[in-house]
Amino acid sequence: MNKNAGYRKKVHIIQLSLAKEISHGMCVSNLALAVAREMKLPEDTCYELAVAGFLHDVGKLELKKYLYGREEDTLTIEEMKYVRMHADLSAKILEQNGYPKHLVEWVHAHHENCDGSGYPRNLTREEIPLGARIIRICDVFAALTSDRPYRKSFDADAAVELMIEEAKNYDLKVFLAFLNVIHEKDLDVILDKGSTEQYLGALLE
Ligand SMILES: [Fe+2]
Repeated sequence: MNKNAGYRKKVHIIQLSLAKEISHGMCVSNLALAVAREMKLPEDTCYELAVAGFLHDVGKLELKKYLYGREEDTLTIEEMKYVRMHADLSAKILEQNGYPKHLVEWVHAHHENCDGSGYPRNLTREEIPLGARIIRICDVFAALTSDRPYRKSFDADAAVELMIEEAKNYDLKVFLAFLNVIHEKDLDVILDKGSTEQYLGALLE
């Protein structure tokens, strides 16, 4: 393989990964909006959750410089430390771009768990803003129902079963609202990943 071919291949991997990130952001955004409405939050808050859901992982794009688009699950421990920086980076990017403080806080805390086992700050339930607790659940479900390099996607029922096993991580009230959403709404419309990813992949070729 000549030098140029190697370069092209690397760019291609980054682009496909970018399409995945955008597609994932759209899923989390759609889910977070639906859950917020199910919880009867004010419409302004629902809209902000849709925005935060879309942008929650924006800091990962900064990490591309270090990681060249590799998937989180295939990284070494040292690289995992970089990936864990993405919550801080996402918050910093949104803050620098003038997003409201509470929205920045939701994004900053989107990997925190109610039992204190999350990152980056090991917050516990009362310390985690409601918006972050909503994004957390939507994020996990969207990830489980997506294909990963080492496994195929889980269907919705299997994903929920896995999440129930980890229920200590989640806010029960939010989780119940989330279950109502995925049982009552048309999930294909909410998740619409396949076509989005394909479209973005083609667009970025
Ligand atoms: Fe994240």
